[in-house]
Parts: sequence; C-alpha cells; structure tokens
Amino acid sequence: MTGPIRCLEFFSGIGGLHHGLNIAGVHAEVVASFDVNEIANKVYAHNFKKEPSKKTIDRLTAKDIEKYQADCWLLSPPCQPYTQGGKMKDINDSRAKPLLHLIKLLSTLENPPTYLFLENVKNFEISQSRQELMTQLEALGYEINECLLSPIQFGIPNHRLRYYLTARRKQQPKNEENVHTSPTTKTTENRKIHTTWPFDQEQTFDVPELANFLEQLNDDDSFIVPSRYILRLHNFRLDIVLPSSTKTSCVTKAYGSNHIMTSGSLLQTKKLETMDYDWQDTASLLELGLRFLTPTEIGRLHAFPMPDYSSSSLGSNNGTKNESSSSGVPRHFFSPANLPHLAFPEGVNRQQQYRLLGNSLNCWVVAELLRCVLFVDSHHVE
Ligand SMILES: C[S@@+](CC[C@H](N)C(=O)[O-])C[C@H]1O[C@@H](n2cnc3c(N)ncnc32)[C@H](O)[C@@H]1O
Repeated sequence: MTGPIRCLEFFSGIGGLHHGLNIAGVHAEVVASFDVNEIANKVYAHNFKKEPSKKTIDRLTAKDIEKYQADCWLLSPPCQPYTQGGKMKDINDSRAKPLLHLIKLLSTLENPPTYLFLENVKNFEISQSRQELMTQLEALGYEINECLLSPIQFGIPNHRLRYYLTARRKQQPKNEENVHTSPTTKTTENRKIHTTWPFDQEQTFDVPELANFLEQLNDDDSFIVPSRYILRLHNFRLDIVLPSSTKTSCVTKAYGSNHIMTSGSLLQTKKLETMDYDWQDTASLLELGLRFLTPTEIGRLHAFPMPDYSSSSLGSNNGTKNESSSSGVPRHFFSPANLPHLAFPEGVNRQQQYRLLGNSLNCWVVAELLRCVLFVDSHHVE
C-alpha cells in the first residue's frame, strides 16, 4: 500500500479544508499549513496539535515548498479581491498577491503537485486571477473541473455559493521545455462551470430543518440581538428564520456585530406563529426574541466536526446514515463526527469566533468534491 497523499494547506485559517479532507475519508495527510492570522493559527494549533507556518505566502520559495514533497495543494485564498466590498480590484489588490505568487511558483517546481483544490467566492470565475491560474494549470497538463455550488444543494440548510476548482495532473509533459505551450483539449474560455450536484445528473437531497443544528440555550440571553440594532432599521427586510426553516443565508465575518442587515440569518425564538412581519414598525420585531446563531450552530451548519454533537435525525459517521464512502458516489449529509473537532481555545472571544467562521467554508461540500471529483479514481479514496 502506498503512503498517504501529502497535502499542503495554504491560507489555512481554522482548517476548513483540513477538516474537509478528514471528512472525505481520503488516505491523505496535511503535512504543513500556512496562514498569517495569529488568532486563526491559535485555533488551528488547538485542534490539529500542529502550528501553521506564519511566513507570508508571497515570500515562500520553491525550496520552502519542495522540502515537504507534497503531492496535493489545498488553497482558500482571500476573497476580497473578487467581492464588491473589496472593490473587485482582482490582480491589482495586494490581497491577491500570495495566490499569484503560488501560481508562478508552480511552474518552477521540480515536482508540481498531482492534485490541487481551490475554494473562493462567486466572481472568482470571471477574474484575471482565475485566468492566470488556468493558463498555468493548462500549460502544466492538469485536468480541471470548476463549479459554483452551495451547501443547500448537498442537503444542508445554508446558502453559501462558492467557486471550487479541482485540478489533477494527468501526466508529466514529455518535453519539459514545452511546458508553457503544451496543447490542451479544453481552453479556459470554453470550459463549463458546473452548477449542479452531482455534476452530470443533479440529485435532490432532503434538507433537514434548522432545529437539527440548534443548541439548547436555556436562560442564556447573550445571543439576543440588541434592540438598538433593530430599532434603527428602516423598512429593511431582515432574514428571519425559524427552527422549522430549511434555509439560512450565508454567514459573513461581520455576523454577530451591529451589521445585522446582510451578515446572516437571525433566529426567531418567540411568537413562532408570526411570520408576517411589519418591517415599518421595527418595535414590533422586538417581540420576536430574535437571536444570533451561536458559533457552535454556525460550525454545525458549515459541517465542521463539533464536540458533543449528535443529532438522531441527521445521523453521524458513527451513526445511522453511515453510507459507504468507497465508491465516490455522493452521500446524504450526516453530521461528521471525525476527529479532530473544531473547538475554540480560551481567549478567542465570540466576535473573533464569528469572524473566523465567516471567513471559513463548508467542510461537507469540500469533502464531497474531494471524494467524488478530485480523488475519484485514486486508490487513496478509502
Ligand atoms: C478565506 S480565508 C481562508 C479560511 C480557511 N479556509 C478556513 O477554513 O478558515 C483566507 C486566509 O488567508 C490568510 N492570508 C491572507 N494573506 C495571507 C498571506 N499573505 N500569507 C498567508 N496567509 C494569508 C488569512 O489570514 C485568512 O485566514
């Protein structure tokens, strides 16, 4: 039996890609991770017992990377260069620099990785950064898949439309000198971006109610949205959800703060029969007991393996819906019980937890794309 696939995790944050790899059940290990954010690194080290390198990625050399003899790169670079909020400056945004640097480094490596996985926001697909990545990958002989998918398509009650790219190097180009000009069958322009899951034949996965993801907060009212945040809204339609809802909106890094308008859903805890809201009479909204989802609940919606979480109706990978992961066939969602879990060490406050989770990703979507697309005919899928 060959050894595990050696992975490098770039822009590791709290390790969403690492958890995704674990959930995929692929015979692989993360041999090193890289991030400059000290708080994220603290959380990562707490859970994986291994410190990420805090050297800025745009300063890494081929030698720094080659020493790991990695065969897979996992990347979730900063999204601000491709968002409205970040002014969509793309390659002219300094936050795109580390990704552009890695793209350049790829062709200088003696052994470029066989596998590459990248996650980013919608709009990355129309960026110059993506164009540069594709040009490089095509020149190096990678077979590429791109998609725009949301967890709701996988049976998770959360919207988080994201761009994903999987690339697998088919063969070593014979003439290394031609590496930059080798012909490819598909070019960047005529590629299809998949928007269904599975790619070829969309399947409908039942979406469980939000109640399955909620904690019992009892008398803890610290998650109640302060009334001053609500009273100043003028005729703005908040995204209010109920325990019975089967949809929540994308959680951003501003969640839990005074930016309640577009940062994510708020949970109605009182008067559950009222769903006809009077948006002009903001005082009437105060009776609904609106609260923020907790970091634990968001972690569950993002499919992180979480401590002390077992929900009978969702099953877990020790539990009722334990479907075979050997075939590369898409699975129904179950709450992952893999180790390590996501837990926050002492000293990481609530707002920091929200920021980290808002910057992170859905581990289940990553896991399924790894199992069913990137590693699908690899003997490494267990
Ligand atoms: C979109 S987040 C990735 C989050 C991660 N996937 C997770 O699960 O938490 C981007 C990450 O890139 C990191 N980052 C930004 N610029 C960097 C650089 N030059 N070198 C290393 N890390 C960087 C940020 O600190 C942030 O954690």
